[in-house]
Amino acid sequence: MLFEQVCIIGLGLIGASLAQAIRDRQLVGRLVAVDRHAPSIEAAIADDVIDAGSDSLFDVVAGSDCIIVAVPVKTVGAVFKDIEQTMRQGLIEEDGIISDVSSTKLNVVEAAKEVFKQLPSGFVPAHPIAGAEQSGYNARRSNLFVNHSLIICELKTTDPEAIDKMANLWEGVGATIMKMGVEHHDAVLAYTSHLPHLLAFNLVEQLASHDDNMDIFRYAAGGFRDFTRIAASDPVMWHDIFIANKPALINALDEYSKYLSELRSLIVNEDSTQLLGLLGRAQSARKHFGHMLTSTPYTKKLTDPSNTDNSMATSNQASSAYIITPSTTINGSMTVPGDKSISHRSIMFGSLAEGVTKVTGFLEGEDALATLQAFRDMGVTIEGPENGEVTIHGVGINGLKPSKTPLYMGNSGTTMRLLSGILAAQPFDSVLTGDASLSKRPMERVAKPLREMGATLQTTGERGTAPISITGSDKRGSKLQGITYDMPVASAQVKSCLLLAGLWAEGKTTVIQPEISRDHTERMLSAFGYDVEVEGNKISVVGGGQLTACDIAVPADISSAAFFMVAAAIAKDSEITITKVGMNPTRTGVIDILKLMNADITISNETFVGGEPVADITIKSSQLKGIQIPEELVPLAIDEFPVLFIAASCAEGQTLLTGAKELRVKESDRIAVMADGLTQLGVDCTVTEDGIIIEGKGGNNSEAVFGGAEIYSHHDHRIAMSFSVASLRASDTIKIEGVETVNTSFPGFAELCNRLGMNIEVKSV
Ligand code: S3P
Repeated sequence: MLFEQVCIIGLGLIGASLAQAIRDRQLVGRLVAVDRHAPSIEAAIADDVIDAGSDSLFDVVAGSDCIIVAVPVKTVGAVFKDIEQTMRQGLIEEDGIISDVSSTKLNVVEAAKEVFKQLPSGFVPAHPIAGAEQSGYNARRSNLFVNHSLIICELKTTDPEAIDKMANLWEGVGATIMKMGVEHHDAVLAYTSHLPHLLAFNLVEQLASHDDNMDIFRYAAGGFRDFTRIAASDPVMWHDIFIANKPALINALDEYSKYLSELRSLIVNEDSTQLLGLLGRAQSARKHFGHMLTSTPYTKKLTDPSNTDNSMATSNQASSAYIITPSTTINGSMTVPGDKSISHRSIMFGSLAEGVTKVTGFLEGEDALATLQAFRDMGVTIEGPENGEVTIHGVGINGLKPSKTPLYMGNSGTTMRLLSGILAAQPFDSVLTGDASLSKRPMERVAKPLREMGATLQTTGERGTAPISITGSDKRGSKLQGITYDMPVASAQVKSCLLLAGLWAEGKTTVIQPEISRDHTERMLSAFGYDVEVEGNKISVVGGGQLTACDIAVPADISSAAFFMVAAAIAKDSEITITKVGMNPTRTGVIDILKLMNADITISNETFVGGEPVADITIKSSQLKGIQIPEELVPLAIDEFPVLFIAASCAEGQTLLTGAKELRVKESDRIAVMADGLTQLGVDCTVTEDGIIIEGKGGNNSEAVFGGAEIYSHHDHRIAMSFSVASLRASDTIKIEGVETVNTSFPGFAELCNRLGMNIEVKSV
């Protein structure tokens, strides 16, 4: 039992719901209530919600070790006076808990000070962020607080034990505890609750005063109804709240008026770019903050925030799984979504260019959307994406504005590393954050050379991970300097980061890569009219130039095509054609490796789209053989190894991979995670420091190679998709947990697999 006896004063919606919730969960010994409205007390006793009740505190309070004041804000002071008297009369202990549920806090604390003189040690101001339009005892709901926040305002005078006890009670009824100062609470609530209610009441009033008000209400569309839903709330309660929280509310209202008049002038001036920018930012901001608060991916469905007051922050924790029943063949012709690397860069370069860039074939996956959102946050107007089309109204090389919040990169390493280069050169400060997987990945690989260029930036923790804090050049007082950097690893992200920083640096920035890595940055810089010097493995840019907008057609992603290439190769009687796949020679390592393994691959319809070579790839069932993978192919197939390990498991003989240490710092440690999964599925493999040895099981393509297993993806999209492909040679069901990250690079993956003959059921868990 959390308390011997709780006394709830006020059986309105919140008080009665709390009583019911406490009762249903049997959290306290005895529950008593006070309400001036006798029928509510009678009903609560009859419904067995409370043990005793009265219209007077003095009748029932004796023995209560917790009193919760749930009356309108205006009457809190009068109730405190009664409580103070019962204390003096010895009906309750002086150190007992006194709490409340009011939606404004400063006035409650002031009222308590006036009555008690010295604030009692058991005084715990609290506020559940929950409610409904209906009020009164009969509107009570036992689950009203489940997954809602309960704010506790910590006071110096309060005993921490009292705070813990109150927190336990609210957690017991399903709430999530948040703590904040009194003033901060009132300011936050002014913005998130009081201002929206005020606007809803005001809009109804405005329209109701029109002469043709009947027509306005008769034809009122969804917008009016949705916007004014909360104007059905209790006027007395809101009157009291508006007055009680006057300073913070007036502040919020003044700011609102300023924004409204700015919006008005955008319409008057028909400033489409700015107007679209504002509307686009607002449209995505709601969803964006929801993901940021929960560190979840963008395409993960958020609970509709309009149903509850704070579901944005709490109820999005579910993840999904694939349950895959074995299948044997896969056939058909298909396209796969746009290239992830090119999609990222199209947003970055388009934003920094002069003029309007139109992108087609844009990958509407999490990672590229994170980049898009980041540039919106920095004031760029971006239309779309819609059916792969995005229009970017470039702000020019010096046109980015500081984001008002930390930039959230979701799962995307490319966004974080490339943006670090861009932001290190900006005059303003920035903070870059990401989800759980991204927050484990090494960021010093870009931070270190950027510091050599004169940037000031800080990574987090011993392992140099996100969040990254970047100090703007204004504070630093100096521009970046061009350097020559000998890269220790063949990383396109590090190379691109430095070349991008180099656009603002004084002089020449040169990157020397130990081996060729993907060259989309170099190609796209040229497409946007920026001079890039490429001499073998040495790439240079000179700072101070401009980018000029151009149209970008994003080819299909060869990394996504790879799953179907391996699928067709390992399955029986299969043939797959993937059309218009990007064939940039710095990305085709997977084709070379599969060919070395004896895969039956044909390339046709070779052409160019937007400066990148594309072609159709046809691949048939093949008798694969194990090989030693040439090290120079590793950077050219860096993202395809997880699925190549599946191919190797189905090959005759051993496959040996070396020089692939980089795989350990991808979205997961892809060597360790793949080895675990393969072992679970019955494949022998040995992990080495920089690679893996896989004992292929061979056989003809009708024989199962894998058993069944439950595999965890470690938030890594490519792990999830690779093990899905294994189901074509499995004898039993493969369950893959944590597959929501597939949306980072391949929205619609499971649906496409099923269309081609596989059997994937997607389940929310
Ligand atoms: C990418 C580069 C590669 C790759 C990643 C995308 C890029 O990373 O793994 O998926 O777009 O530049 P590294 O540069 O770290 O090898």
